Amino acid sequence: MDALRIKGGVPLSGTIDVSGSKNASLPIMAAALLASGESQLDGTPDLVDIRTLAKVLAHMGVGVSFEEGSLKLDATKIDKPEAPYELVRTMRASILVLGPLVARYGHARVSLPGGCAIGARPIDQHLKGLKKLGVEITLEHGYVEAKADGLVGSDFIFDMPTVGGTEHLMLAASLAQGTTVLRNAAREPEITDLADVLNKMGAQVDGAGTEKITIVGSSSLKPYTHRVIPDRIEYGTFLVAGAMMGQDLTIRGGLPDHQTALIDKLVQTGTEIAADNQSTEITLNRPSHITPVNIKTAPYPGFPTDMQAQMMTLLCGAHGTSTVSETIFENRFMHVAELGRLGANIRVDGGNATINGVRQLSGTTVMATDLRASASLILAGLVADGETIIRRIYHLDRGYEHIEDKLRAVGANITRFSE
Ligand code: EPU
Repeated sequence: MDALRIKGGVPLSGTIDVSGSKNASLPIMAAALLASGESQLDGTPDLVDIRTLAKVLAHMGVGVSFEEGSLKLDATKIDKPEAPYELVRTMRASILVLGPLVARYGHARVSLPGGCAIGARPIDQHLKGLKKLGVEITLEHGYVEAKADGLVGSDFIFDMPTVGGTEHLMLAASLAQGTTVLRNAAREPEITDLADVLNKMGAQVDGAGTEKITIVGSSSLKPYTHRVIPDRIEYGTFLVAGAMMGQDLTIRGGLPDHQTALIDKLVQTGTEIAADNQSTEITLNRPSHITPVNIKTAPYPGFPTDMQAQMMTLLCGAHGTSTVSETIFENRFMHVAELGRLGANIRVDGGNATINGVRQLSGTTVMATDLRASASLILAGLVADGETIIRRIYHLDRGYEHIEDKLRAVGANITRFSE
């Protein structure tokens, strides 16, 4: 199994590029199922999650080619509209194929994704919404079986803003007859990117980025060619790296507008941030003193749950006490125990963590527990005194493209090895 070795304390300088968005690519890949012909997604990051969904699609008969960030998906012929447990269990977003398949073929069978480390993560909203569009759903032997004789547009109110749920219903509604209105919809940039794709395919999607999305479906959609938006969480992770170790560290290719809540908090910590308004470059210098701040995760445009672990690592070095409240997932503090092994002083009470800043983290061996927790441990390793070994980094490869190469290129002393 691969592990990372980091020798901490080296400033980061130079330029680091942001890759295409994982979480925008996944629903856009599912959108390829809606049309006969070859769709093309450019800027797709080469990540394990992307390859897993590509395998799910290939398993059904979709033609897949992936070269230099250009992912081509030909869904002209689907042999079996089915996604098996072995593939779905490793990546929950595979559930997004259910709606497009039943909309186009009238039936689909997709394994229930089950829980995951950060929480139970139910899909009740996805299924309720599909039922509202006329899909008959049964759960049997751990699989969702979906049948429909043509989908019909409807009005659906989500119980909570769900990113995957909103994407799933947008996908299905694009092939439904008539108009669908989604209320209390998620507003993340990935939703807006998916709407752009669905509009290119021939659906009429309005209101993406607001809590009310209207979709006028079409009886037949065309394949798309699209360049995916930059990955705002990879971007945010590098911004936090700049706040912790930056010495004129420039991050290129991310969209500051997609990380406003994070950037506001970084400014409050005292991080020097200079944005070049003519381009997408932003340059960071770490402050001499990190001012403590309080964070509460919330759906977009609030502070992203996917940045909570990384931000907490920064706050471990603040001069004073910070608080972090996690409101989206019930079990997303698994990095706390590992940060504690590195010398952090964090107390957790339910969804609230209190972080008392310490002068210095000190390197040791830690274990990555999920994707964003892995990133937080890398950041911790970059500031810690001495050597940090991070084990079980397979989580990291699900969501960060060549992260150790990117960090090494700006000065970090980080290497991957097999144990
Ligand atoms: N929820 C339900 N029922 C549903 C759907 C969601 O109760 O049917 C709950 C969830 O349990 C959670 C909340 O609603 O408490 C929000 O979950 P959401 O559906 O928005 O999350 P998701 O679509 O499963 C995506 C990202 C996550 C990110 C969350 C929140 C993808 C592939 N995943 O998950 O990304 O944390 O939105 O922003 O887009 C990551 O990349 O590391 C990651 C976990």
